[in-house]
Amino acid sequence: MDKEEETAFMTVFPMVLGFMVVFTVVIFVIARFIVPTPSQIAATVDSRVMMLVESRIEPFGRVRTSPPVETAAVTAAAPAVPRSGEEVYNTVCAACHASGVAKAPKFRDAASWAPRIGKGIDALVASAIKGIGSMPPRGGIPSIGDDEMRGAVEHMLAQ
Ligand code: HEC
Repeated sequence: MDKEEETAFMTVFPMVLGFMVVFTVVIFVIARFIVPTPSQIAATVDSRVMMLVESRIEPFGRVRTSPPVETAAVTAAAPAVPRSGEEVYNTVCAACHASGVAKAPKFRDAASWAPRIGKGIDALVASAIKGIGSMPPRGGIPSIGDDEMRGAVEHMLAQ
C-alpha cells in the first residue's frame, strides 16, 4: 500500500462507516413509525378477536365435583336418614344437659324437669328449637331437624 492508496482509504472508509451509521438510525426511526406499540395493538384489536384468542389458549379442563360442592353442603345440612334422639343428645345436647351447664335441666333428672314438664312436650321442643335463655337455637347446631330435636327432648326427659 503506497501513500496515495492509504490516503484514499482513509477518506473512503470513514465515509462508508458514517453512511452505515446514518442508515441504521434512519431504519430505526422508520421502524418506530411503522410498527405499533403493544398498547396501540391492544387498543385496536377487536374484543371479539381477543375472546377468540383467549378461548384458544384457555386451560384444557375444569374441575368438576360430583355432586357439585354447593348441593353437597345442602345435602349434608339435611341428612336423608334422621339421627336418633339418643345420637343427637350424645353429640350435641349432652354438652350442657348432662351436667346442667348454666342451669340446663339435667338428663333424665325428674327434679330439674319438674318445673318445665307442665308446658307439654310440644312447647319444650318448640323452645329448644327457638332457643331459650342461655341455650342457643337447636343447641347451636342449625342442621338438626325438627324431628331430631323432638327425639332428643324425648330421650332427655325423665322417664
Ligand atoms: C350450650 C348449652 C346447651 C346445649 C348444647 C343444649 N341446651 Fe338445652 N338448655 C340449655 C339451658 C341453659 C337451658 C335452660 C334455659 C332456660 O330455661 O333459661 C336449656 C333448656 C332446654 C329445654 C327446656 C326448654 C323449656 O321450654 O323449658 C329443652 C327441651 C332443651 N334444652 C333441649 C335441648 C336439646 C334437645 C338439645 C340438643 C339438640 C339442647 N337442649 C342443647 C343449654 C343447652
